[in-house]
Amino acid sequence: MCFCDEELIDVSEDFSLKKILREVRPLDIHDTIDQVADAFLHPEFEHVLSIAVIQEQRPVGIITRHRLNQMFLKRFGRELYGQRPVSDFMDNTPLVVDLHAAPSKAAAYVTQHMKLPLSADFILIEQGTYRGLGAVLDLLGAMEQQVSRTARDLSKALRSLRNSQAQLVQSEKMAALGQMVAGVAHEINTPLGYVRNNVEMLHELCQGPLLLMPRYEDLMQRMLDPEANPDELAAEIDDLFQQRSGLISESLPDDLLSLKEDTLYGMEQISELVLSLKDFSRMDQAFVDNVDLNSCLENSLLIARNALKYGIEVIKDLNPLPRMRMIPSQINQVLLNLLTNAAQAMPQGGKILIRTWSDETNTYLSIQDSGCGIDAAHLKKIFDPFFTTKPVGQGTGLGLSISYQIIQQHRGRIQVASRPSVGTRFLITLPCHLQQAVA
Ligand SMILES: Nc1ncnc2c1ncn2[C@@H]1O[C@H](COP(=O)(O)OP(=O)(O)OP(=O)(O)O)[C@@H](O)[C@H]1O
Ligand SMILES: [Mg+2]
Repeated sequence: MCFCDEELIDVSEDFSLKKILREVRPLDIHDTIDQVADAFLHPEFEHVLSIAVIQEQRPVGIITRHRLNQMFLKRFGRELYGQRPVSDFMDNTPLVVDLHAAPSKAAAYVTQHMKLPLSADFILIEQGTYRGLGAVLDLLGAMEQQVSRTARDLSKALRSLRNSQAQLVQSEKMAALGQMVAGVAHEINTPLGYVRNNVEMLHELCQGPLLLMPRYEDLMQRMLDPEANPDELAAEIDDLFQQRSGLISESLPDDLLSLKEDTLYGMEQISELVLSLKDFSRMDQAFVDNVDLNSCLENSLLIARNALKYGIEVIKDLNPLPRMRMIPSQINQVLLNLLTNAAQAMPQGGKILIRTWSDETNTYLSIQDSGCGIDAAHLKKIFDPFFTTKPVGQGTGLGLSISYQIIQQHRGRIQVASRPSVGTRFLITLPCHLQQAVA
């Protein structure tokens, strides 16, 4: 019985049978049972169960300690059999394995063919000639190590797969952000524009008082002078009053107040936009407790404001929701993608209806648009990575596939219903008591 599969060596296995090879001497086919007994007593064979028998370098059989014991335990066993050749008593169908065989295949062969109880080793050959013995337990032990190494490699591969998935999420987020940055810059420009106007108006309004101030000061000095001529002072006061009505408008205090308020409002808007952008792009991937989906939505609407501006009416029906455990930056990413998709589906304008509500177990968010809709044939593919109907450079086709993964990571569901030329509705369902997903 021989197993050779040189042509089938599995190069992916980094363990080879050479590692378990025991280079012990074989017996010659003409050796006697006495010689076998002497050999078994020799330290070289201390750890083997059997000795190979060869003829002209090739294995022809194997004799085990067990077999020898059976013979010697008989009355006068040694006297009866001691001089007989080993070939009379050996097992002439030994397990023979090529040294270069794939260990997993050798292990399968050995375990299938070994005799029970385990009493023999297997013979290792190279190009048909005897090289040594292999112990079944050594082989199984090495295989076990190999399996745990493979399991380690697999979990390493899984980890790196997860990492690259996280990178994909991150790069999609960056792409989405890139698209939005231009919009947000535009949004910042509007309040910035009127803050600048206000400051310029403030400058103009202050010119009159600034011009008159030195004269008022001069007049005050002169009024304090006891020798001042009262008629001259009265004429000066009269003149100043006249000039003041030309240089300072009656409504100056009110104008200044409203300018100040307008400017502060504009600056608040700018800082709100900057804050939402910062929140949106937060790099941390950690689950955060107590997140309100409605505020994520407001945040994303603020970021998407530019994309939603032209002829798009956003109708909100947001109901109180329980605070939940989620990764807000990722949820923002999903919402932004859904809102952008809706806006892109309505180049001529239309309506987006956003609803949130919850029941005892779930929180729901529905985003419905009156856009072009999705063909039935495309509907199955929209969550596939890289599926896009948008021109090159406009869509990567990753938005929905990443959104799907994010919602799945949050133990939720994302569903779609669409009718061409009528519109599309996405429904996100998130469990209220969200446990942290297994990372
Ligand atoms: N609201 C919608 N109305 C019509 N079609 C939609 C809508 N949302 C998604 N789609 C279709 O699904 C496709 C995939 O969407 P997805 O967000 O994954 O990628 P994309 O928008 O094309 O590109 P990206 O989001 O990466 O910029 C879109 O190209 C579009 O054909
Ligand atoms: Mg998209």
